Amino acid sequence: MVFKLTDEQIMIHSMVRDFSREVILPTAMERDKTREFPADNLKRLADLGLMGMMVPPEYDGSGADAVAYVLALSEVAYACAATAVVMSVHNSIVCESILHYGTETQKEKYLKPLARGEFIGAFALTEPLAGSDPSRQLTSAKKDGDHYVLNGTKRFITTGKNADVVIVTAKTDPSGRHKGISAFIVKKGTPGFSSGPLEEKMGLCASDTTDLVFEDCRVPAENRLGEEGMGFTIAMTALDSGRIGIAAQSVGVARAALDASVKYAKEREQFGQPISKFQGIRWMIADMATEIEAARQLMLSAAAMKDRKENFTTQASMAKLFASEMVNRVTAKALQIHGGYGFIKEYPVERFYRDARVFTIYEGTSEIQRVVISNHILQDKRVL
Ligand code: CAA
Repeated sequence: MVFKLTDEQIMIHSMVRDFSREVILPTAMERDKTREFPADNLKRLADLGLMGMMVPPEYDGSGADAVAYVLALSEVAYACAATAVVMSVHNSIVCESILHYGTETQKEKYLKPLARGEFIGAFALTEPLAGSDPSRQLTSAKKDGDHYVLNGTKRFITTGKNADVVIVTAKTDPSGRHKGISAFIVKKGTPGFSSGPLEEKMGLCASDTTDLVFEDCRVPAENRLGEEGMGFTIAMTALDSGRIGIAAQSVGVARAALDASVKYAKEREQFGQPISKFQGIRWMIADMATEIEAARQLMLSAAAMKDRKENFTTQASMAKLFASEMVNRVTAKALQIHGGYGFIKEYPVERFYRDARVFTIYEGTSEIQRVVISNHILQDKRVL
């Protein structure tokens, strides 16, 4: 590793690894079938201080750094990717946005309970007609006295049904492109705010994904996050952190797939010997391990840059791009190593393969990460 982990980072990593494997992993396969939201897992994560990991103690968080956070998140993803995505959006996007852009009142009312895990957070940017290009969103927020009136539909919102607090972006100036977008904190139960039916997804089945619908939803002006027109910047800044989180989820699922493959390859005998003795299998395992290590280094280096308060936008996109594509290659190889058993639900690799598929899509597709990276390189900015 380029840099040495601190004792605290090692301690947090090892604590979360043990916890995830003992507590979260045993129910992951069943949860994938029942699609039951992992509320109990989140409660246990909150008890360990993992729901406000990067929030300072004065706001009831754990005050950990980003490196410790990605190590912890990758261990949760190793055990259950559906639990990890809820933890990721909650920590990297929701808590971080309120921490960086919230008023003291907002921090008191929303950040503290979020950091204690009493509220679960969601982030609503995407719309039916605005995915990769969120500047063209149509949800509107019209000022009316000391409120804003929100109208519109958000789509594919992680934790849409179960979140207590949602950060929603909406146009306060419909004629402005990204500069016309503002962000709002909306509490569940606010009249005019509802969630749509659960999407039937191919993976991450226990994490709920829904539309959020706003119909003349009156949000107090004091719930606007940041100044009017800052919503796009808030979203982009949050996604920088979120994208390192997706790299961490990818590394966790890939390591689970590698471990399952190694175990299977040592046990499964064909042609009179364990299949781990065959060079074809050994090379797949070598490639999987090498790719995972490369992704892990990119994830750690982006997180370390964040901790050093350097601009880490490009490195976050590189980590997300490489790690999310890596885990799709690794889980495909894991399934191949398992042969027919990889194709049935009795073995976990089938779930890993399905869970990994969305990693190259959400929080910015691979194509969007390449846009971010190439823009940076072509502007002749230093990356390495
Ligand atoms: N940090 C801070 N500001 C940023 C920024 C960043 N990383 N990236 C861009 N900005 C700012 C720019 O500086 C610029 O500001 P000024 O006008 O003041 O100079 C402004 O934002 C607009 O920048 P661009 O012109 O580059 O913006 P664009 O419209 O061309 O879009 C983009 C750039 C990278 C394609 C962006 O739209 C993007 O990331 N798209 C993907 C959206 C996405 O990831 N959606 C995922 C949904 S969330 C989700 O999946 C969550 C979940 O539930 C799991």
